[in-house]
Amino acid sequence: MAWVLEGLKEKERQYEVTVPGDKSIAHRAIMLASLAQGNTHITGIPDGADVFTTINVFRQLGIDIKQTDDELYIEGSIGEPNRPLDMGNSGTTARLTMGILAGTEGYFVLTGDESLRERPMKRVIDPLRLMGADIDGRANGALLPVGIRGRRLRGIEYEMPKASAQVKSALLLAGLQAEGTTIVHEKLKSRDHTERLLASFGVKLDVSGSSIAIKGSQVLKSPGKLEIPGDFSSAAFWIAVALTVPRSTIEIKNVGLNPSRIGLLTILKRMGAKLEIREHGNIFGEPVGDLLVSYSKLKGTEVEKEIIPSLIDELPILAVISAQAEGKTEVLGAEELRVKETDRIKSICNNLGKLGVDIVEQKDGFIVTGGRGLIGNTVSADGDHRMAIALAVASLNANGITTIKGAEIASVSYPDFKLKLDDFAKVNRNI
Ligand code: S3P
Repeated sequence: MAWVLEGLKEKERQYEVTVPGDKSIAHRAIMLASLAQGNTHITGIPDGADVFTTINVFRQLGIDIKQTDDELYIEGSIGEPNRPLDMGNSGTTARLTMGILAGTEGYFVLTGDESLRERPMKRVIDPLRLMGADIDGRANGALLPVGIRGRRLRGIEYEMPKASAQVKSALLLAGLQAEGTTIVHEKLKSRDHTERLLASFGVKLDVSGSSIAIKGSQVLKSPGKLEIPGDFSSAAFWIAVALTVPRSTIEIKNVGLNPSRIGLLTILKRMGAKLEIREHGNIFGEPVGDLLVSYSKLKGTEVEKEIIPSLIDELPILAVISAQAEGKTEVLGAEELRVKETDRIKSICNNLGKLGVDIVEQKDGFIVTGGRGLIGNTVSADGDHRMAIALAVASLNANGITTIKGAEIASVSYPDFKLKLDDFAKVNRNI
């Protein structure tokens, strides 16, 4: 009888992960299901705090949302709440909900946590006012808290001054309830989950080039069931682990591969990354697949301005990856990073600098010269989930101990990340 034996080494170095459901899609799925006729059963809901914020807000608006593990059952219709709505740390919840409530009968007060109350809201409030919205906020409508007296809106034609899926989505959602047609023009294309999901709810949109037109007074019909693919922005951290930890190969299963989200893959391929994309389907208009990524010798690159919207949330982790690449990586034209959950340009430069990375802050980005050895140090998540996780990945390549203060903020999008990373490290140490 023959013995059949499998080589151990290759096997042991392989690691497989699934990531939480896509946060951007989950927010939208909950919102559209709340607006739709009929019940919606959603699977693949991520367990991060941001999505829980959206669930709570829509419950307070009178929607019946039942949750078991990563599944939601949603039905009901929106009404006036008897208390202020707390948007927590979530910019997407705040801005998209404003678009919905501007055209809904009732009075609504929106607030948020310390970080969100300092993030710009004028970018949504100004165009909503052009649609006739009765909406105002602190600092002349620039900041939360915001008060909205819902009323009948009218469609507008609006040229987006900067790429923002949150602003575009707010206007499309307001446009749904407006008289006439709302047309949004984008100079640079932002993520298009709202457009794709609206189509699943039977809404007719006219998308031509960089313009989207939506007719008002359309009725949303629940598709019955919705499935959320894995979050590419969470997968990006595992891509970085695989690329920077010598000898590792990681397979990331069932990740959303919407082209408006995966600019990072284009940049990484250009840097010489060994990565295989195995697209295997499409769920509710969103392409999905597995990613196979291996440790690679990378070289620096220039990240062009046009690609920034499709990797905006991946720039902290790209900075971490660039520190392991040979030569310079330049990210410019990314001034939006200054108004995320924290000033991410400042946070990336301060924290990576403390770990010994050669990084120079620019007004609208940063320049990393890679190849230096990293040294463990005490750094800070600065109240930003993506910073906490990006710094944890950076620490894998640092000599000695890294302490990330306030790292529990990671729970905004990926509560299990540290647990998984510990498991990955354990598996690697045993090789
Ligand atoms: C998001 C859009 C982006 C992104 C954010 C999520 C969305 O923000 O950075 O994390 O779900 O629409 P902007 O709309 O401000 O670009």
